[in-house]
Amino acid sequence: MQEPLTALSVLITDPDPRSCQFLANLFAKRGYTVQSTTSAKEGYILALRDRPDVIIFDPALADMPGLELVRRLRSDKRTSNALLIALTGTSNVDELGTLMAAGCNEYLVKSQEAIQRIFEILTESTGQMNETRPIGATKKKTLGGALIVFLSAKGGTGTSSLCANIAHALSITHSEREMAVIDLVLPIGSIGQIVGYQGEFNLLEAAKKSAEELTPDFLRRAVPPLDPWGFRLLAGISDPEQSNALDASRIPTIIQTYRNTFDVVFVDLGRSLSRISLPIIQQSDLIVMVTASDMATVSLTKIVWQYLQGKGISPNQVYALINRAVGLEGVSKSDAEQIIGLPIQATIPYMGANLSLANNQHLPILRKIPTDTAAMMIDQVSRQILETTYRNRA
Ligand SMILES: Nc1ncnc2c1ncn2[C@@H]1O[C@H](COP(=O)(O)OP(=O)(O)O)[C@@H](O)[C@H]1O
Ligand SMILES: [Mg+2]
Repeated sequence: MQEPLTALSVLITDPDPRSCQFLANLFAKRGYTVQSTTSAKEGYILALRDRPDVIIFDPALADMPGLELVRRLRSDKRTSNALLIALTGTSNVDELGTLMAAGCNEYLVKSQEAIQRIFEILTESTGQMNETRPIGATKKKTLGGALIVFLSAKGGTGTSSLCANIAHALSITHSEREMAVIDLVLPIGSIGQIVGYQGEFNLLEAAKKSAEELTPDFLRRAVPPLDPWGFRLLAGISDPEQSNALDASRIPTIIQTYRNTFDVVFVDLGRSLSRISLPIIQQSDLIVMVTASDMATVSLTKIVWQYLQGKGISPNQVYALINRAVGLEGVSKSDAEQIIGLPIQATIPYMGANLSLANNQHLPILRKIPTDTAAMMIDQVSRQILETTYRNRA
């Protein structure tokens, strides 16, 4: 009946003494090393001291908000790789979004199924302890990693630059998550250029692999995290001739394998609304729609949005932002919202030559001009994007 003894250690923090005791007994019976406390502050101190592999906490903690606990644990080297599981009495979608974006791995509502799910996660994590990846990087089994697509209605809007830089910002704030960027812009992808990717492996090569060859292990080995970007890249195709040789029917499998391997997958679709990109847009957790402040781009964005709505996409699947790539004032935010028919969540300021320079030097904007308003904006936007993504997955 019992599972084999494991080295995994579990810390339980639950303000309700009966619930706390119940959970502690449950995990101890399964052979895990268990510590438990009804105080979040004590839980936090125990976590830093004993570095448990798994921390299960009720976010309705009395002496420290769950969000603060997650932020503190994630920002301390001693606990940054722990598996964090929120086990709540009452489900709250906003809380789920903020906790997950802050670095929580799972958000479950107290129930028999939740306990079952935790046992599954612990079993998976025991297997992972021998691998190099942190166990805090356990993904949702059913859905795979989160999928965020970047889309624009017009070239030159800054879609690729923002995709790379937002993925970078999140790789820094969420080093416990493995992230990947896939460049699906045809016929020529530009993210490889932006990040200074030198490798051979790209979309064309990935499409040549059979399903048996394209395993999570293979993907991890094929492209290590890029320095200083922090994410893995499946570079696009750099030669239009090669684009013609691409077997596009392999793309869905490639995307799914990336999702099965990494925690967050970003896809740069550029301005493509094709038979290939539409299913990817439809299965994504969030669509980042990059628009500009000139009338031509705003009008085209309206057409794209109407098309997507016709395909069953709802407004809360979209995160629309204005990128002032050209520096022109043109259309105001509220006018753009009126015309497109979507709320604009953020405006990225004009960065002058800084972004082009950063791109030419293969540097993230957060490295190039860390204290600039634009860089801080990208950091802030990246957090909002992740929060919305996890909220949509709920
Ligand atoms: N906010 C901004 N400020 C200044 N330049 C920008 C900004 N956004 C994008 N750019 C510049 O615009 C150009 C196009 O960007 P890119 O990311 O390639 O757009 P897209 O992928 O939509 O075609 C690049 O030279 C980039 O440096
Ligand atoms: Mg592009």
